[in-house]
Amino acid sequence: MAAPAGSASERKEFLFTPADFERVRRLIYARAGIALGSGKHEMVYSRLSRRLRDLGLSSFEVYLAALEADPNGREWEQFTNALTTNLTSFFRESHHFPILAEHAKAQSEPIEVWCCASSTGEEPYSIAITLCEAFGTLTPPVRILATDIDTQVLARAEAAIYPLDRVSSLPSEQLKRYFLRGKGPQSGQVRVRPELRRLITFKQLNLLDDNWSIKGPFQSIFCRNVMIYFDKPTQGKILSRFAPLLNPQGLLFAGHSENLSFVTTEFSLIGKTVYQPTRGLRR
Ligand SMILES: C[S@@+](CC[C@H](N)C(=O)[O-])C[C@H]1O[C@@H](n2cnc3c(N)ncnc32)[C@H](O)[C@@H]1O
Repeated sequence: MAAPAGSASERKEFLFTPADFERVRRLIYARAGIALGSGKHEMVYSRLSRRLRDLGLSSFEVYLAALEADPNGREWEQFTNALTTNLTSFFRESHHFPILAEHAKAQSEPIEVWCCASSTGEEPYSIAITLCEAFGTLTPPVRILATDIDTQVLARAEAAIYPLDRVSSLPSEQLKRYFLRGKGPQSGQVRVRPELRRLITFKQLNLLDDNWSIKGPFQSIFCRNVMIYFDKPTQGKILSRFAPLLNPQGLLFAGHSENLSFVTTEFSLIGKTVYQPTRGLRR
């Protein structure tokens, strides 16, 4: 029998063999495009063992077999949610936001922005704050579409409530203008102002799906810190579907470690991890 993955000396609640681990890798790659590295078995064990416990199952083999037997089953959502990594923060990679503001101010039409891996909401709310500041109003001509594959983080984003320490690095003026402080049982938390919340539509969207059912064109697409989970062919496919959805003069914002120039010629680098459709640069 194959030895359980992970340290041999560790006693684990559930048997988790190398074959189970490979099966998880295959399933999440096919479902979400996430290419889990070979060193992630501990992470997979700890995240999925919660599912086994909740379902009262005794082994990964049983869990994975049930999953595979029902390709449209509800457990897929939980499986996917468990395996995404959702790290984010307000104004992460802050150099992008003044670029967004300048670009938005130069537009004559209402601004449409797509934030395609919005996680728990800090990124789309940072976009919304930036555009409110750019237009000097809480009701700017702006619509933001915020999507993610993970339904759990989307629910948290829609709730728009954050612990105070998530916003502690924001200037106090911004805090006052865009957040409401919780009182009583909600003390220690802030809620995003409803005006800001109203600028954003949250929706579940798997970047791997054939049909995104969204309409462009967008003036900007934020696709930050998600491409790192995909392999190059997947990145290439997604980028060629972004190209027609973005205005020729639109901006594509990528994460700090995502170099798209190696993947596509449809976008050209015009600033630090900021790209523009190459067709818009040609004369
Ligand atoms: C590390 S977070 C990045 C959040 C934010 N963009 C940022 O830069 O702070 C990656 C997000 O990508 C989402 N994700 C992973 N695979 C996805 C897919 N196939 N389609 C859509 N979102 C996906 C995850 O659920 C997660 O919320």
